[in-house]
Amino acid sequence: MNSPPITHHPTLTTDFLVIGSGIAGLSYAYKVAEHFKQLGKPVSVTIITKVNEDESNTKYAQGGIAAVIKNSDSFENHIKDTLIAGDGFCDEKVVRTVVEEAPERIQELIDWGTNFDKNKQGEYDLAKEGGHSDHRILHYKDLTGNEIERALIEKVENHPFITILDHHFAIDIITQHHLGVKVTRQSPDKKCFGAYVLNRKTNEIQTLLSKITLLATGGIGQAYKSTTNPTVATGDGIAMAYRAKAIIENMEFVQFHPTALYNPADNPSFLISEAVRGAGGILRNHKGYAFMADYDERKDLAPRDVVARSIDAEMKKHGKKHVFLDTTHLDKEHLQSHFPTIYNKCLSIGIDISKQLIPVVPAAHYLCGGIKVDLNAKTSIINLFASGECASTGLHGANRLASNSLLEALVFSHRAFLSGVEEIKNIEFQSNIPAWDDEGTTLQDEEILVSQTKTELQTILSDYVGIVRSDERLSRALSRLKLILEESEDLYKKSTLSVAICELRNLRSIAYLITKAAKEQKINVGLHYNINN
Ligand code: FAD
Ligand code: SIN
Repeated sequence: MNSPPITHHPTLTTDFLVIGSGIAGLSYAYKVAEHFKQLGKPVSVTIITKVNEDESNTKYAQGGIAAVIKNSDSFENHIKDTLIAGDGFCDEKVVRTVVEEAPERIQELIDWGTNFDKNKQGEYDLAKEGGHSDHRILHYKDLTGNEIERALIEKVENHPFITILDHHFAIDIITQHHLGVKVTRQSPDKKCFGAYVLNRKTNEIQTLLSKITLLATGGIGQAYKSTTNPTVATGDGIAMAYRAKAIIENMEFVQFHPTALYNPADNPSFLISEAVRGAGGILRNHKGYAFMADYDERKDLAPRDVVARSIDAEMKKHGKKHVFLDTTHLDKEHLQSHFPTIYNKCLSIGIDISKQLIPVVPAAHYLCGGIKVDLNAKTSIINLFASGECASTGLHGANRLASNSLLEALVFSHRAFLSGVEEIKNIEFQSNIPAWDDEGTTLQDEEILVSQTKTELQTILSDYVGIVRSDERLSRALSRLKLILEESEDLYKKSTLSVAICELRNLRSIAYLITKAAKEQKINVGLHYNINN
């Protein structure tokens, strides 16, 4: 059945435009709005989000959020662990800033109503995950992200200066390019004036003008066949920024989580939190052998890149589609109370994790690179900020330390807020922005081409640009992707606008950027491993 025809809505304005409603977007929006409320100065903050307001990677975060909380832990230790995981590619100044600002940002989350588990002594029950030298992960059972998202949504929903537009899809950010001015990646004065947005409920395309825009659009997991990321994670923000000629970096560093539940019917793949290994879970192969000791002295709690590659090697060695995570020696009550979601999910497919091994396999999980930002979350485009998973801040380097990403989003959204509330004083809305140009886009009913191309693209990335790469595989991926690029650009130009076609266009840019960066990376570092290097 055809969708209602696309129409154009008159131009709307908002002082602050926030694209995305995960931890990065929501915490930023609330801070900005609250700042002006305290000053008694009305301001408009608009959050747009492509499906329901809570759908995001944030909602599915299990393990928790890392910070130095215990007296026996130290900033220096958290910094050192982050630098080791990042394999020499982190920006040390950024690492220090994030780690040192963490306790304050987390206290704000708590003040906004987020609950974290406490032990019988009333202290925070801190978990340990791979690569951490101490217990420093605050969590709420295995539902930490859901709890953070709940608390933040409650805050923004009740704020008089914030409007949330759910089921609104950002198509492109607006720059001088839309006024007919040629811009290149090197032009120093590129400016963002807002975004073109598709209202999915009415099929209207809106021109949403803003003084300041924050991209908080999350990850890219759906570029791969198997991922822990929900279906919204199609890299839209990075692709939009790339089209607007922002600087994008470190795209080769795609993190595969070592332990997604092996259940091929699931999209997304269900995560078995690293906290389960932190609690004593052991990886075993089909013979029951605990193989991690053969690969790294830190065994099951080595950094993720090491564990994922070890599992990949073990699966290839034995010709198997998964390995196992053994929790049968752990206390059943502990498993049920600390990991209720994991316990119940496994039970729903017939696995009692207190008695049976869990089949697990690595899955695409997190992008360390993205839109390059400075320490104030500023992109290379004036008035455009980025925070959260879509941003490349320098914190993660070539491999992210577990539970550092929720933290990164909080810290960078805070810093974007501090800059934004000052800078907005000198920004005016841009006039004369034309309505979205959809001339010649009449083709409909070609959903089969869109879905087929998406599957093709996911297969190419999974098969050739996965955990272990080679020159041959990367060259093949690049030549296949070039063809897809041409075909789908042609389809995009002719087709009536839809979310599916925009997401395909974005995924195709993401696939290209990852593959190109992987081909150009000539050393094996962190998450990038090429057998020919
Ligand atoms: P998201 O939370 O993904 O939010 C992005 C938002 O942008 C969504 O609302 C989306 O709908 C919207 N959006 C995207 N494109 C558009 C568009 N074109 N138009 C409008 N809206 C758009 N990290 C940790 O630190 N600790 C953990 O324990 C942890 N566990 C994880 C478990 C899972 C299963 C997953 C998937 C990730 C986990 N991570 C964890 C990573 C972490 O959750 C994410 O990196 C983080 O939540 C990203 O937050 P964000 O605000 O940047 O993006
Ligand atoms: C997990 O719970 O294993 C995910 C933690 C993370 O991605 O940081």
